[in-house]
Amino acid sequence: MNGNETLERQQPDALMLYGFWYRVLPAEKLHRNQLQKAVTLEVPLALGRDGQGKPFALHDACPHRGMPLYCGRFDGKNVECSYHGWKFDAHSGQCQLIPSLTSDQKLKVDRIYAGSYPCEERDSYIWVFLPEPAPSGAGFSKAAEAPFAVPEIPKFSEKYRSAYLTAEMPVSVDHGIIGLMDPAHGPFVHQAWWWRTQHSIYEKRKNFEPIANGFRMSAHTPSSNSAPYKLLRLYADADSITTTIDFVLPNLRSETIRAGKYWFSSLTTVTPITRNHCRIDVVACWNLFYSLPFVPSLLRFVFAKFVEQDRSTMELQAEGLKHNPHLMLIDDADRPAKWYFALKAAHLEAQRNGGELKHPIAGPVTLKWRS
Ligand code: FES
Ligand SMILES: [Fe+2]
Repeated sequence: MNGNETLERQQPDALMLYGFWYRVLPAEKLHRNQLQKAVTLEVPLALGRDGQGKPFALHDACPHRGMPLYCGRFDGKNVECSYHGWKFDAHSGQCQLIPSLTSDQKLKVDRIYAGSYPCEERDSYIWVFLPEPAPSGAGFSKAAEAPFAVPEIPKFSEKYRSAYLTAEMPVSVDHGIIGLMDPAHGPFVHQAWWWRTQHSIYEKRKNFEPIANGFRMSAHTPSSNSAPYKLLRLYADADSITTTIDFVLPNLRSETIRAGKYWFSSLTTVTPITRNHCRIDVVACWNLFYSLPFVPSLLRFVFAKFVEQDRSTMELQAEGLKHNPHLMLIDDADRPAKWYFALKAAHLEAQRNGGELKHPIAGPVTLKWRS
């Protein structure tokens, strides 16, 4: 391997990928018959729940003169713009009424649409499908259906518990994602006396393989220094524990750990809010310790600690990034980050040329690093 292969200058492009489902808000934050705003991929959204509790997402700008719709009135069915009172169906965005029209004015109200987006509730979150931005001047029409389903956390029993965590970070989605998959920061960022110290660094070898739109880390003897494993080892012997960690475009990291009938599953996403801002959302589901009431709070505490350590690290990192430093990625510890950039480039390339994604990872590969 020559020097260029092991050491690369890499500039995150902060490009955001449209055409995917994104988490926009924890489901419990969205109440019936109330409107709320959220920005995702720089798209302003007006969100709400209809009288039945079904969530919806409208483009947060009235098609008449651009008033944000979240500050309008909502009767459980239609959103009324606060400027001139135009009314729109909350789900389809179709205009229902223009109060200023006189009876002899024949404007076809139902041909007007407020922008709307496919919107679903799944695993404690409201998700919105954000398509490629329409070419300017395309006008408003009913939203197309999402071409694929919302990502779902795999569950392996009927009964389970779940919890979520969320934290905003002042860095681009690229830094958020590569920080998430970076194995080398653990001993430095995630130290705690009850957890591990810098002195517990040792060499690791992990097997990776390409999967559709991403890659998988498969390990049969799990690394001994991760929270769920430590807990699982109380229940099952280390050899019976299997784990997989997948990363899939645009921003999905899922981890599944199984030990006999016990399991732990999580889906972490890093969502671009704007070009320079992202949010990390972790949802975990598990059936361990079902009857021990303190364990969920313990797990929550551990995860909250981790996420807070990552958040405050990236807040500091943002200070350095302001000055546009040259950055580098090294093998093997930063190889997952390189794969992320390569996958993103391949996706954009496939989108431009209409072909299939040319997967940048040829086959199974073993990576080594110390952490
Ligand atoms: S701006 Fe919304 S009704 Fe006029
Ligand atoms: Fe971390």
